[in-house]
Amino acid sequence: MRHSPFRTVILGTGSELPTKVMTNADLENLIDTSDEWITARTGIKERRILEEGKGSADMAYCASIHALKAAGLEAMDLEAIIVGTVTPDYPFPSSACILEDMLGARNVFSFDVNAACAGFLNALAVADSFIRTGMIRNALVVGSDALSRLLNWRDRTTCILFGDGAGAIVVGSTSDGNRGILSTRLRTDGSYAKTLYVPAGGSLKPASRETVDRSEHTITMNGKEVFKVAVRAMEEISLAALEEADVGIDEISLVIPHQANRRIITAMAGRLKIPMDKVMVNLDKYGNTSAASVPVALDEAWREGRIHPGDVVLLNAFGAGFSWGAAVIRF
Ligand code: ACO
Repeated sequence: MRHSPFRTVILGTGSELPTKVMTNADLENLIDTSDEWITARTGIKERRILEEGKGSADMAYCASIHALKAAGLEAMDLEAIIVGTVTPDYPFPSSACILEDMLGARNVFSFDVNAACAGFLNALAVADSFIRTGMIRNALVVGSDALSRLLNWRDRTTCILFGDGAGAIVVGSTSDGNRGILSTRLRTDGSYAKTLYVPAGGSLKPASRETVDRSEHTITMNGKEVFKVAVRAMEEISLAALEEADVGIDEISLVIPHQANRRIITAMAGRLKIPMDKVMVNLDKYGNTSAASVPVALDEAWREGRIHPGDVVLLNAFGAGFSWGAAVIRF
């Protein structure tokens, strides 16, 4: 595959954030917390909450429309739709199939990838592989999550961290060896499965009155453990992706990390010896939007003019599973 004649290039990006804003001050009215604590421990000031009656596919749809427009493609041109999400509209079918129908794409195959906050990186790596084998010539790759639906609003250790959103990119195929996705790297460690998970609602413990009463349909997390492993894992996987791409740290123009916690990002950048002015941070506005965080930040960085032709951009993410990944892209 390293010697494939095809490379994957980003043709267009898009994002969608719900209009409803929940600030740290709003949370002060719900739980025993403070803007000062949340800001100091996480860097988050506010997050967006998806309105009732909408699902993550609705956000994915809007982000995808923006990405298709930026790419100059129609939905009918798409050959694959891959959605990273842990909050699909339904247990099945996939959000990708719902999105496909919303878009009116008719010449595609579509599926979801469940890798939590690393969902977009996993979806991107799959699309990249398909393109490099010549199986497809383009794909819509989406990260969309509504983690507000999985929060226990009485648990101050988790409910302050997350928000809703969607990001999308359209990728295409090129034979220009000088640009595109230079490498992708993925890893998991399932021994940490219960360090960050939703205990009920799956086949092991289906929904019941008891599971609802015990708030078992909401996120349960050992935050300190997540923090510790995330920093090390994001550093290691970034170095592996850079080595595979044969790119040095000094050549990186911008890092677009998963937006979980400013302290995680700062520690990761410090270990990689990358100055913070080369790191995209927007979690102050959106919190942790799970699979959406990297493509939303990528879209914002692009629209803010922080990415130029020829730039080398490093993406990395870490989340439940534990599952993590990195990609190196030359624009
Ligand atoms: N408001 C006020 N006080 C709080 C809050 C809150 N929202 N939450 C916890 N506290 C209290 C605790 O009860 C504790 O009080 P105590 O000392 O009296 O016992 C004190 O603050 C310190 O709590 P810690 O858990 O030690 O705080 P820590 O510095 O570890 O920060 C946090 C907690 C923010 C969750 C951090 O561990 C973290 O960000 N971990 C990563 C989790 C994460 O990002 N998960 C997302 C999914 S995975 C991913 O995306 C990378």
